Amino acid sequence: MVGLGLAAASHVHGYQGCPGCELIAVCDLDEQRARRFAAQHSVPLVYTSFREMLANDDILAVGITTPTFLHAPMALQALEAGKHVHCEKPFCVSVPEGLEVCEAARRSGATLAVGETYVFLSSHMKARELIEAGEIGRPVQIRERHGGWIERKQPRIDTGPADRTWRVNPVQSGGGEHPWIFDHAVHFFAAAEDLMLGQPIVEVYAVGGGRPGRTRAGATHDPYTSAEAGIPIITWKHRDESCHGVWMRAERLNGIYDYMRGFSTTILGESGVVEVLGEGGGNLFWDGRPQHLILHRDGKETCCFRFEEGGDAVWDSEISYYSQAHIRQVRHFVDCILRNEKPRYGGEDGVRAVQATLAAIRSAREQRPIRVD
Ligand SMILES: NC(=O)c1ccc[n+]([C@@H]2O[C@H](COP(=O)([O-])OP(=O)(O)OC[C@H]3O[C@@H](n4cnc5c(N)ncnc54)[C@H](O)[C@@H]3O)[C@@H](O)[C@H]2O)c1
Repeated sequence: MVGLGLAAASHVHGYQGCPGCELIAVCDLDEQRARRFAAQHSVPLVYTSFREMLANDDILAVGITTPTFLHAPMALQALEAGKHVHCEKPFCVSVPEGLEVCEAARRSGATLAVGETYVFLSSHMKARELIEAGEIGRPVQIRERHGGWIERKQPRIDTGPADRTWRVNPVQSGGGEHPWIFDHAVHFFAAAEDLMLGQPIVEVYAVGGGRPGRTRAGATHDPYTSAEAGIPIITWKHRDESCHGVWMRAERLNGIYDYMRGFSTTILGESGVVEVLGEGGGNLFWDGRPQHLILHRDGKETCCFRFEEGGDAVWDSEISYYSQAHIRQVRHFVDCILRNEKPRYGGEDGVRAVQATLAAIRSAREQRPIRVD
């Protein structure tokens, strides 16, 4: 594992205890951090140089959880050193560098998976299963809502180093003047394509120029202390242009607060609707009871689902995001290597999400719809 901050604190639980997998080395520029992490998780080898770690032939696969600008260069180096790669989102900061990594994976024949928690969230996975089973008919519209999150008073994992200013550095975070959107919109587009059964997004329109309202302090582990002006709403069309989506943002970092809390997704089909509680979520009710997923169908009784996973490690949320989605995506990566199967979310998927995100940023700047290709 390389980059031992917030994401790594969840990934480690995925690698450890995963049949067929042994976590033998960790790497971080901060040696003290690396040594502490290794001691805490009983990892035998500690590196401060990624290059040196890659030279170890006992290492067959690498998990990359470094700041975003390092993802594609490190993934490329690891593939060239003959390793399988799991790389956190956003997969790359530009489309060409992402495609270069995909090409390297094709050449080496290694497994290349991109960490996309929104695809591996229990509630989203159940939604996908129901949609695939035809429960709501053809999915035609997706609505994603990004509301305020509440952190746990005591996070159950290490929420990362004190200095995380790379997240607001326009180059290191990716996305230029929109680092938050760049970091997050890849999730929203990934979820939309997944829940639209793989239909790519072809056009996006972002409402830009919004003036932030009263800024509230950000999440404790986030450096986004000032509201990022603009992009409160994004709309898009899928390849079948009768299918479209919208994402709406109202949470403390944007200066507006949605008391509905957390992330939620609604997928409308031709004969039904799925409502999903997502990351950091609360407040999805049916008949006065809190639910995690609600399935409405024409002429049939409404069904409700709950996923009892012990809550999240970082957010005050029953939906287990850091605890389960991160772990599940890493275990899926290991399974894909062992079974020689294609990952559910791979390099090309990661590039498409970045491409749609860059189109959204350009759309906000130019105030017109932008074709993703
Ligand atoms: N899917 C999710 O929900 C999710 C959540 C958190 C982070 N992420 C992604 O994971 C990535 C990491 O984010 P984070 O919040 O964990 O970051 P972080 O700042 O908490 O940790 C990054 C770590 O990388 C180390 N590092 C930096 N440069 C390095 C180098 N050259 N070699 C080795 N180590 C190096 C830093 O010292 C630090 O310990 C980001 O791209 C982020 O978008 C995804």
